[in-house]
Order: sequence, then structure tokens, then C-alpha cells
Amino acid sequence: MPELPGMGGISGDFGGNFFKPLLICDTNTEFLAAKIRGDANIPICTLQAGESHKNWQAVEAILRSARDAGLGRDGTFIGVGGGVIGDISAFAASIYMRGCSLALVSTTLLGMVDASLGGKTGFDLFGVKNLAGTFFPARHVYMPMASLASLPLPEWKSGMAELIKTAILDSDNFLDELVSLAAAFPDGSFSGGFPPDFASRMLTSSAALSRCISQAVRFKGAIVEEDPLERGGRRVLLNLGHTFGHALESTAGLGTISHGEAVAWGIARSCDLALALGVCPPRRAERIRALLSAYGYETAAPHPLMGSASGDFMQALGSDKKKRGGNLSLIVPGEKSAQAVNTAADSFMNTISQIIGI
Ligand SMILES: NC(=O)c1ccc[n+]([C@@H]2O[C@H](COP(=O)([O-])OP(=O)(O)OC[C@H]3O[C@@H](n4cnc5c(N)ncnc54)[C@H](O)[C@@H]3O)[C@@H](O)[C@H]2O)c1
Repeated sequence: MPELPGMGGISGDFGGNFFKPLLICDTNTEFLAAKIRGDANIPICTLQAGESHKNWQAVEAILRSARDAGLGRDGTFIGVGGGVIGDISAFAASIYMRGCSLALVSTTLLGMVDASLGGKTGFDLFGVKNLAGTFFPARHVYMPMASLASLPLPEWKSGMAELIKTAILDSDNFLDELVSLAAAFPDGSFSGGFPPDFASRMLTSSAALSRCISQAVRFKGAIVEEDPLERGGRRVLLNLGHTFGHALESTAGLGTISHGEAVAWGIARSCDLALALGVCPPRRAERIRALLSAYGYETAAPHPLMGSASGDFMQALGSDKKKRGGNLSLIVPGEKSAQAVNTAADSFMNTISQIIGI
């Protein structure tokens, strides 16, 4: 995991290391792209920030900037930002002149531990997330820890949930590391959600955070190498907590709850399901739930935001079944790591209603 050299981990020399680079960023990461550019004469394409701008217009803006700057197939797109910038820069790189080089400078925790790895590119189309995309791995991925200093709290929450998910899939040692990180905060720090000084404290203990990020990168890297095009196998385990989480997000109303909080709650529900199916020892399920609670995530069911919309939740959860011939596949923690459980959607639905108490 190379660190960008130079002041604060982000260097003005860096952009010049690439032949014909184009820096791509959003309005919140433009200052980081400018630091990377330094005094070099490198074009910057700045896009609007956020998921609502992960669209074809953004891809077109990148392609236009590359054309205007005279980049050929030997040029390099350098995406500087979180998962949104990563996904669209990578997609644009995969189609520009039938594919140019790609480097990613990941500036969110979620980008570092998840989105920048694995070669998935894409953008949202016709209201469907990531409807269009390709597989196009970056040649270089950089993770400057210093860039996290400006990351807003909700983005830390999203990233930490993915880190916890990865630790569950990986090993007890990784879980221990996250327990120690939470324990380094004063008692009660997470009682009202993430404490305002979360970022500064995490970056103060940056050796521990850096170890966690490296371990997550190693883990996801190994899974992706086994199955670069997601044909099956272990890669599906990375969805732990996501099916429940997505259903909660759509029930609560998109944007009402952060992706990370929804995933964390989804992991707690996966623990419940694993216990109901007898595939996870109670002590392990309890340990996972305790870790989620230690970071202040809501783990109780039903989620307070579900209100009276429990029917919508079950519908959202079951909406996959059409695609899978009436069967539902969910990832649950096992004795070690996690496993996929498949069954007729109707029978799952009964179990899940009981678990959630709706
Ligand atoms: N390709 C993959 O395998 C993969 C995996 C997981 C998620 N994703 C995608 O990633 C996206 C989510 O990524 P994300 O959570 O990083 O969101 P994001 O890219 O939208 O970043 C979150 C917010 O933080 C801002 N930001 C980024 N870095 C910053 C910094 N250092 N300082 C201040 N602000 C900063 C961004 O401008 C944005 O407003 C989704 O679109 C999802 O589909 C892709």
C-alpha cells in the first residue's frame, strides 16, 4: 500500500510521476488534487460531489477534459476522492480510447478499505445504482492517511462499518484490533453517536488505524485475486450486512440513514439470522454485536427509523427473489468468517419477521 511521499503524505511531485496525467476530483477533494499537482502543468477535472452526481454527465465531463488536454491511450486518469470519484474515474478510464491507464488516490476510509480495490467501476443510470459499469482495476492505488484529516464524521461512520465487516470476515485478531481502537476512547464517547473528535483521535493513533486499513486491503485483495470478475466464490461474502442494510436504507428513505449505519445494523441482523439458523456460536454473535455497540451503532431490532413501515422493509428485503428464481441468498457470520445461506424466500421471510419482531 504505497503512501504518497512528501508533506503531510500528499506530494506536489506525485502527479509528475505519470505520463500525460489527468487529475479527477470533486469539489471537496479539489484541494487535495491541487496539492498533488503542485507546480506541474497537469489538468484537473473537478466534478460535483456526492452519489447524486455519479452519472453519465460526470463520465462525459471526464472524457471531455481528457480530449481537451490531448490525452491519448497512453495517458493516465488519476481519481482523487472517495468511492464515487473512484468508480466514475475508473469507468471513464476503461472506455477512453478503448482504455487508458488508471491510478486512484483514495481519500475516504470506505474508499481505502473497499471501493478502490477490486476493479469494479460504474455509475448510476435510470435511477439504478451502478447500473452501468465495467471491471477495470487501477494500476496504482494510493492511500494517503493525511487526506482523512478533513473527512466528515458521517464518512468515517461508513468506513468503520466496512472495516468491522472486513474484520468479521477475516480473523479474530482483526476484530481484537478494532476492539482496542474503540477502547482507546474515553468511556461513553460513543453514547451519542460518533464523538466529534473521532477523526483527530483516530489519526493520533494512526499506526493502529493504518494496520487495520492494511489488513483490510490484504483481505479484500486476496478475495479479489481469487475471483477478479466476481463469478462466484468467496467474493460474495463481502456483502455481509448489505442486504439488510439496503432494505433499511430504502425503508427509512434514501439519505435518511447513512450507508455505514445501515450496514452496521444489517450486520447485527445477520448475527440474529445466523443464531436462528444455528450456524454461528452465540459467543461470536455477541462479540460482533458488542463491537458494533462499542462504536455507537444501533443494533436493536426493529430499527427506530422503520416506524410503521415494517411491511416495506420485508418487501425491500425480498425484492431480490425475482432475480434469483424465488430463492434468497444472505450472508451471515459463521464460526469463523461468514457464509452464504440460501433458501426459499418465503421461508426466510418468516424467520426474519420473527428475528426483527415485526
Ligand atoms: N467499486 C467498488 O468496489 C465499490 C465498493 C464499495 C463502494 N463503492 C462505491 O463507493 C461510493 C461510496 O464511496 P464513499 O463513501 O467514499 O463516498 P464519496 O466518494 O461520495 O465520498 C463521500 C463524501 O466525502 C467527500 N470527501 C471524500 N474525501 C474527502 C476528504 N478527504 N476530505 C473531505 N471530504 C472528502 C466527498 O466529496 C463526498 O462528499 C458509492 O458510490 C459506492 O457505490 C464502490
